[in-house]
Amino acid sequence: MPCTVITGGFWGDEGKGKIISYLALKEPIEICVRTGSVNAAHTIWYNGKRYALHMVPGGFVHEKCRLLVAAGSNVDVKQFLEEVELTSVKNRVGIDYQASIIEEKHSAQDKASAHLKGLGTTGRGVGPAIEERVRRTAKLAKDIPELKPYLTDVAEETNTAIDKGKNVLLEGTQGLLLSLFHGTYPYVTGRDTSASAICSEAGVGPTKVDNVLIVLKAFITRVGTGPLPDELTKEEAIKRGWFETAAGTGRDRRAAPFNFELARKSVMINGATQAAVTKLDCIYPESKGSKTFEELSKEAKQFISKIEKQTRIPVTLIGTGPDALDIIDRRK
Ligand code: IMP
Ligand code: MG
Repeated sequence: MPCTVITGGFWGDEGKGKIISYLALKEPIEICVRTGSVNAAHTIWYNGKRYALHMVPGGFVHEKCRLLVAAGSNVDVKQFLEEVELTSVKNRVGIDYQASIIEEKHSAQDKASAHLKGLGTTGRGVGPAIEERVRRTAKLAKDIPELKPYLTDVAEETNTAIDKGKNVLLEGTQGLLLSLFHGTYPYVTGRDTSASAICSEAGVGPTKVDNVLIVLKAFITRVGTGPLPDELTKEEAIKRGWFETAAGTGRDRRAAPFNFELARKSVMINGATQAAVTKLDCIYPESKGSKTFEELSKEAKQFISKIEKQTRIPVTLIGTGPDALDIIDRRK
């Protein structure tokens, strides 16, 4: 797998955390670089415990994995330090000198803005922090005394590891349809979320990437405002077992059936080479806990084949339950 980018195919919350934790343990991943910011939570089940991580990379489940926070990301210092404690990764986590900092005022600005409220932002201050960075007045990680023990050059570490053939994972956050460039503007986040942007934030050039793994959930969810094709009522979502609440903010997630056209477009813009489909057991309950493709029902197999046909990439990983190891792995 040498250098793999994990990217979200829809509006985030596709189950990237679960796929990352599986790969971290299985490959194993030696370096995991987190991009984006504190607005995104990655849910990981590990040793029977649930983690919703906003800053620490999902690769933490593999004890030897070096965890890095990219130069392009925005760091909430308090959240970072709390999660480092929670996951006990103090001696193997690093932050790039040039990652920028979210301050209290950014979150206050996010929450006070009627415009941002109308977009249904997470209120974590990411948009205002990025504005500050663009004005060239932002604080950077290297300006914060508490972060001193963690500072490193993430691009140097990551590219050196790639050149040595180590397994490196670039962890995208959110999803393509929340991209500032390619999403449902203005109902988007403050950054590009595509695979190219993930590389750019980490400081890894496109020629260094071997795989782009897009994560698609078997149904679609969206938090916040903005269009959602074929949206179900909350009652219908509950009836189908598709009703979720956001790992970060606790808000209701709106739900809709899988959308093949959106999947095709997202695969194209991400340049995805393979796909992971998560939560198959939520649309085909009999598949819960399945470990092989053969044991799936005819309908479930047809659903996967249709995704492959429409996106023209193979579905290599299929999620059949919440645990990191509830997965059908079809990679050679
Ligand atoms: P912001 O990123 O907090 O500015 O919010 C902008 C939009 O992106 C809102 O619709 C949020 O609900 C959505 N959003 C931001 N981060 C995530 C995420 O990690 N998962 C799902 N939606 C997100
Ligand atoms: Mg999430």
